[in-house]
Amino acid sequence: MESVARSQSAADPGASASNDKTLIYRQSRWTRLTHWLWAISLFFMLLSGLQIFNARPQLYIGKESGFDYNNTIFAIGAENTNAGPRGYTDIFGHRFDTTGVLGWSGPAGQETSRAFPSWATIPSYYDLGTARVIHFFFAWILTTTLIVWFVASTVNGHLRRDLAPRLDDLKRLPQDIVDHAKLKFHHTREYNTLQKMAYGGVLFVLLPLMIITGLAMSPSMNAVLPFLNDLLGGRQTARTIHFTVMVLLVGFFIIHILMIVAAGPINELRSIITGWYRTDPPAQDDKPVERSA
Ligand code: HEM
Repeated sequence: MESVARSQSAADPGASASNDKTLIYRQSRWTRLTHWLWAISLFFMLLSGLQIFNARPQLYIGKESGFDYNNTIFAIGAENTNAGPRGYTDIFGHRFDTTGVLGWSGPAGQETSRAFPSWATIPSYYDLGTARVIHFFFAWILTTTLIVWFVASTVNGHLRRDLAPRLDDLKRLPQDIVDHAKLKFHHTREYNTLQKMAYGGVLFVLLPLMIITGLAMSPSMNAVLPFLNDLLGGRQTARTIHFTVMVLLVGFFIIHILMIVAAGPINELRSIITGWYRTDPPAQDDKPVERSA
């Protein structure tokens, strides 16, 4: 086990004190490795998942779907209008014209009827079989990665030290919201409250829910865990939750990237690639803390 706690000036006594910032070892190799594994897995799962969704671009609530039911809550499609074919998206009975992106898209003059456009799916052409192979392959990588992250983070203390919520976090929350709104970032060893909430929400709510609803849709899992579908409100509800979690993860991803850019992308990227993070000048009473990889 590797244990590191050093400041830039400690590592390089000749370094100028005028910089007066500390380089600390913030992200263990397990955090970095699992982070990139789930980022890559989610990329392929998203694009192959949208291809799978295209095969039946509607979402329902309940156990079943079909002509006899009136339980559609979301649909993407195309229709003929006086102005020619148009793409639409229905959300809870409200119709939006989404021509060019959802429902009806493609190069000018070669548009076709497809829910998500070809640039947003893997493969770009219609191929349900390949999309399923890619989706399930990365689903197992993601699941294994999450288990590895959980075990490693418990053993090396990352979970307890960096992610577990404390009473202090609650007290700091209003100030944290104000700071984020003003794009004012503190570069400290600890995650701030909003970071803890966002990362905790992804790691303990969204990703597990994604995996459970995915398993609930698998016919072989229905035989092994027959109660799972009922617990989630039926197979169609499980599919709707799966899709909703995908939308939330995409939302998280966009905010995650915006925050990284706003907080200083070089420093942030260095920490999630090499582990080393540059903090703001330490307060007088700050002491170096031991970290283990
Ligand atoms: C779907 C994709 C992604 C997800 C779900 C995700 C999720 C997360 C989570 C949960 C953490 C906290 C990990 C921990 O403490 O154990 C984290 C940290 C981080 N991620 Fe991502 N991430 C994604 C993509 C990316 C990408 C593309 C970048 C870079 C451009 C990135 C940069 C970072 C950085 C710099 C941190 C550390 C933040 C900090 O120390 O303040 N992430 N990410």
